[in-house]
Amino acid sequence: HRSQGLNSNSLTLMRHCLNNLMDKPDGQELVSLLVSIQSVVKNIGAAVRRAGISRLFGAEGSVNVQGEEQQKLDIIANQTFINYLGNSFATCLLVSEEMDNVVEVENEKQGSFIVCFDPLDGSNNIDCLASIGSIFAIYKRKTPKGTAPSLEDVLQPGRQLVAAGYALYGSALMMVLSTGNGVNGFIMDPSIGEFVLTKPNITMNQTIRRQYSVNESYRNSWDPKIQKYIDTKKQGDEPIPQRYIGTFIADFHRTLMYGGIFLYPNNAASPKGKLRLLYECNPASFIIEQAGGRGTNGQEDVLDIQPLTIHDRTQVFLGSKHEIEDLHTCLNQ
Ligand code: AHG
Ligand code: MN
Ligand code: MN
Ligand code: MN
Repeated sequence: HRSQGLNSNSLTLMRHCLNNLMDKPDGQELVSLLVSIQSVVKNIGAAVRRAGISRLFGAEGSVNVQGEEQQKLDIIANQTFINYLGNSFATCLLVSEEMDNVVEVENEKQGSFIVCFDPLDGSNNIDCLASIGSIFAIYKRKTPKGTAPSLEDVLQPGRQLVAAGYALYGSALMMVLSTGNGVNGFIMDPSIGEFVLTKPNITMNQTIRRQYSVNESYRNSWDPKIQKYIDTKKQGDEPIPQRYIGTFIADFHRTLMYGGIFLYPNNAASPKGKLRLLYECNPASFIIEQAGGRGTNGQEDVLDIQPLTIHDRTQVFLGSKHEIEDLHTCLNQ
């Protein structure tokens, strides 16, 4: 009779990483990087849970490079990422939505990896307690160790990613991670303070017309072909559900779990797309491909896009293979 509650044999995120990464080149360094990221997520999760009590809601009073009003939790989450990753001895360059330029780790603490991250995704949803998240994407440096890391180490297409993942601060605290061999989901078990594997080898539901996720308020300024594609979702006696939380990674996670498609098309307010390539679209596309889905900008796979600047934006469509094929049919008409 297994004693309830004592999850002595649950597979923790740490053990999962050790089991799967130690035989890889730089495996040890990648494991220690992921352990640092796990600590970042635990800290941000605690701040998010405490925000109402510790008066961490609301705006900081500053504007970031995106032209967005920074929330207090944006700043706290950003600082947490930079402090932990900068002291992990596993990173050399850091890219954050909240930092104008690339952050270079101090020399004697530099390691092999570059991390691009959205420290707090869904800032507009903080004060109303809707799900929010953190997103990260990990590259290995291309320039030789011992030389100064450079922008070429950062502006790599998503196809070069070593790992990517996200945290969801939702009804439970969850981490979803891929290191290139499938996608796994871990839920925080507060009784032991560990992330435990609850969703091994996540694969997308491929049936079509499951649900779609898009902010329809921008409809009038979409490409007419996209207007038509969305209309097909409403036609017939079986219109399919539309869901939109307004936190990218929460809308993405629901799409990964239930199937369907997420869209953020170009619109009048964001003519080149709103979502950022390096720390929103690439990690999501890396993960969804590992789960049997696809991520495209309408012309090419997101992972094949060559970044030009660290805050590039792109139009993005993320969904099951069939839904993306259906979209491409509409776009190519
Ligand atoms: P962030 O909070 O990290 O700046 O991201 C905001 C993004 C994303 O979370 C969400 O999908 C999108 O903004 C919502 O944009 P709209 O309000 O235009 O739909
Ligand atoms: Mn933002
Ligand atoms: Mn975001
Ligand atoms: Mn953000």
